[in-house]
Amino acid sequence: MDISRRDFIGGIASLSVAGIGIGIGTASASSVEVLRAATGAARLVPGDYPATPIWGYNGKMPGPVIRLRQGERLVRRFVNDLPQPSTIHWHGIRIANAMDGVPELTQPLVPPNGTFEYDFHVPDAGTYWYHPHNRTWEQLARGLYGALVVEEKEPPVVDRDEVLLIDDWRLGNDAKLEESFGAMMDWSHGGRLGNWITVNGQGDFGQTAQRHERLRLRLVNVANARIFPLSLTGLEGWIVALDGQPVSQPLPAGRMILAPAQRIDVIADVVAPSGGETALHFVDGDDLLPIARFKVDGAIREKRLPAPKPLPANPVPALGDLGKARKTVLRMEGGAMGGMRGAMMGGRMMGMRGLVGQGRVWAFNGLAEMPEKPLLSAALGETVRIEMINDTAWPHAMHLHGFHFRKLEKDGSQGPLRDTLLVDSEETAEIAFVADNPGKWLLHCHMVEHTAGGMATWIQVMA
Ligand code: C2O
Ligand code: CU
Repeated sequence: MDISRRDFIGGIASLSVAGIGIGIGTASASSVEVLRAATGAARLVPGDYPATPIWGYNGKMPGPVIRLRQGERLVRRFVNDLPQPSTIHWHGIRIANAMDGVPELTQPLVPPNGTFEYDFHVPDAGTYWYHPHNRTWEQLARGLYGALVVEEKEPPVVDRDEVLLIDDWRLGNDAKLEESFGAMMDWSHGGRLGNWITVNGQGDFGQTAQRHERLRLRLVNVANARIFPLSLTGLEGWIVALDGQPVSQPLPAGRMILAPAQRIDVIADVVAPSGGETALHFVDGDDLLPIARFKVDGAIREKRLPAPKPLPANPVPALGDLGKARKTVLRMEGGAMGGMRGAMMGGRMMGMRGLVGQGRVWAFNGLAEMPEKPLLSAALGETVRIEMINDTAWPHAMHLHGFHFRKLEKDGSQGPLRDTLLVDSEETAEIAFVADNPGKWLLHCHMVEHTAGGMATWIQVMA
């Protein structure tokens, strides 16, 4: 594996634009738009490297950016041309439960050559994404993902709106994926980490921009497990939304942490002079590795635009009386360097060796598999609290389907609305949300090797 950082930076310097080399599937006979998952190839590594065999949607990697207006209806026929069953999950959408894309829990698996029609409304403006929810540790790593952008009824004034899907691939010298998807070494540690970062499938993402141009950058972490610390140079701006939901006051976009599945919307102005360069960097220790570059050519206006106003809030209900709210505890255990001695599986207690044999190296509340009974069952509209205790040596990106929640801070304040929260090793993080969406909803770690390794449970909201 010697596609090293040096080569990576060298690759960027050449700024050649990578092409996509997969054929487009045949169009459906009906008028419903199709999202077809199939094998293909994409030029992840520039230069003399060959194209990388990938799996993608509609002959693209990333899949097509789906854009619609807040409140609109999205209809897509998923066609599975993969050699494995799959589904599509619309990450972060407060969706009708039957459309949530979770095998067994909300829909049957879609077998090879099978189809499933997704049909739902999007209640919230913001940046979302879609990905499979079966063998995600393999299917996501192979390139199955795309952005879902829901535009505000009155979008903020920007010159350009770019979605940047940030991925982390594990490639060999031939630019092929290392097919070590099930490696227990990864599953029991921080998940599958790669050696090659792409933005929108390109190892050398580069565009031009003008001084004082205002960009909206929709940053999405689509990696299996890597946490991206990020920063900007030559661009100054504000974080305006997290996980799709507007923050009440835009925050300066300094160093940002983007955990798996999280999104950050940044509105930023190009402040570098003409002839200069601006970039989004992956902050690797003391190093800044540029992963998306904008070469500055000319100026769009004399001065910067005034600071943006907060984006309009989405119709997420406010939390009810927290003093009266029921609290459920979720204890995360297991993984390398953790103290877990064993956990329940298949109705019996198993020791670590037995669990590893089953690929289950993590547990929630002593259970290393999806429980038959929900973690909690809530009445419709009830305010629910979940205390998540991270009793492991690893951070976990905890994702709740169907809702956005707030972190309850120790000082009594409430954090921003999120659908995925990074909970550090040994940290206890309490979240609360209004259970206003009936159905069966997954709660899992979004380091997808951890999900499969035992970190998944579900909650039920009564109709
Ligand atoms: Cu991004 Cu359970 O999903
Ligand atoms: Cu995890």
